[in-house]
Amino acid sequence: GLDITSLRAKTGMITLDPGYGNTGSCTSDITFIDGEKGILRHRGYAIEELAEKSTFMETAFLVLYGHLPNASELVKFEQEIGDESYLHYGMKSHFEGFPDNAPPMAVLSAMLNTLACYNTDLLTTATEGEAFTLPAAKIISKVRAIAAWAYRTSIGKPFMAPRPDLSYSGNFLHLMFSQQFNLYEPLPEVEKALDLFFILHADHEQNCSTSTVRMVGSSHASLFSAVSAGVGALWGPLHGGANCEVIKMLTHIHEDGIKPRDFVEKAKDKNSPEKLMGFGHRVYKSFDPRAKILKGQVDNVLKAMNVSDPLLDIAYELEEMARSEDYFIERNLYPNVDFYSGILLRAIGIPVNMFTVLFAIGRMPGWIANWREMHEQSLRISRPRQIYTGEPLRSYVPMQQR
Ligand code: ACO
Repeated sequence: GLDITSLRAKTGMITLDPGYGNTGSCTSDITFIDGEKGILRHRGYAIEELAEKSTFMETAFLVLYGHLPNASELVKFEQEIGDESYLHYGMKSHFEGFPDNAPPMAVLSAMLNTLACYNTDLLTTATEGEAFTLPAAKIISKVRAIAAWAYRTSIGKPFMAPRPDLSYSGNFLHLMFSQQFNLYEPLPEVEKALDLFFILHADHEQNCSTSTVRMVGSSHASLFSAVSAGVGALWGPLHGGANCEVIKMLTHIHEDGIKPRDFVEKAKDKNSPEKLMGFGHRVYKSFDPRAKILKGQVDNVLKAMNVSDPLLDIAYELEEMARSEDYFIERNLYPNVDFYSGILLRAIGIPVNMFTVLFAIGRMPGWIANWREMHEQSLRISRPRQIYTGEPLRSYVPMQQR
């Protein structure tokens, strides 16, 4: 009901809000967060209910198109995604150009932009019809293949053909782990846990990467380049990259025999570079609801796989300590989605350097939905202002006088 054009400031005062803690950049119908109460809803549906009853494909449709799909809409959507699950064979040579140790997030970002080269007829800002549904389906489907190809190239294994009989998440596990003569058959609990991981990452309003997607899209660059930029923003350890950092931190504590108490003390010390990774959030000032759901799942998956993980005990211990420490209580620092997700992904067999790539796969519907909404609202190009604090006007000094 809000007329966005009436909010356009034409001229006048500049507000300075570093980090945009109090700046709204848009209105949105997609995701609702109440950070004080720990509430997250997509299109009005509570994340807890989606986590329990939905699938990633259904949630992706919901986030993108605003309503839960009926049976035929879901079949059509899954068909669109299925039809796009192959990569153009020409992309093989691009993968071969990367060194084996290339960070998978760099490969993912580059290859999403490369999709634009193979789809030059789809570089539009359309929000309806095939001109939107096709690039959206291509990206949601091919991001999975790109991730798996990047991993398999890095370990010197051939690519697998996708299997149409598998779910979105089952197919991803197959593309990652199947051998030519030994197909990977995931346990139902594992496939479900990965699907849940993707659901929990589907959208999260105007975070750093989603704002980046909107920022890039606002110049009317293509959807491919906007999501490629989103991957770049997600990569950082303060954002999606935190899921790798949490496991590195827990491994460091475990393998180097650090006492969790000593680590917590270091994380409180402003002179130390250590932080309690996976803790804190710009918006949540109570428990991140996604972390709560994941914490509940980790045990199930470990049990189903018949494995135990000493890192989980360390994570519980750190969380318990943080709960009773004034430093964390005063600053409202609770576990965020990244705190338990790494333990889940590790149990499934995903290598640590792929964790943030999986976050990107899950976040794709949210990025695309935000890009679409922005173009539906015909927003202006994003262009923040600044307060100049540099030198006043001075005269050019010839080289011999400097
Ligand atoms: N460990 C120790 N201290 C922390 C932590 C932490 N993980 N997070 C915040 N703090 C402290 C800050 O030092 C600051 O203290 P001060 O007030 O004494 O200066 C206070 O808590 C407020 O923190 P800010 O950094 O101002 O909060 P901001 O909203 O800017 O940053 C962020 C949020 C980036 C998530 C931060 O909490 C952090 O770095 N956490 C660790 C990284 C992480 O887990 N990132 C994933 C976030 S979720 C996601 O992106 C999917």
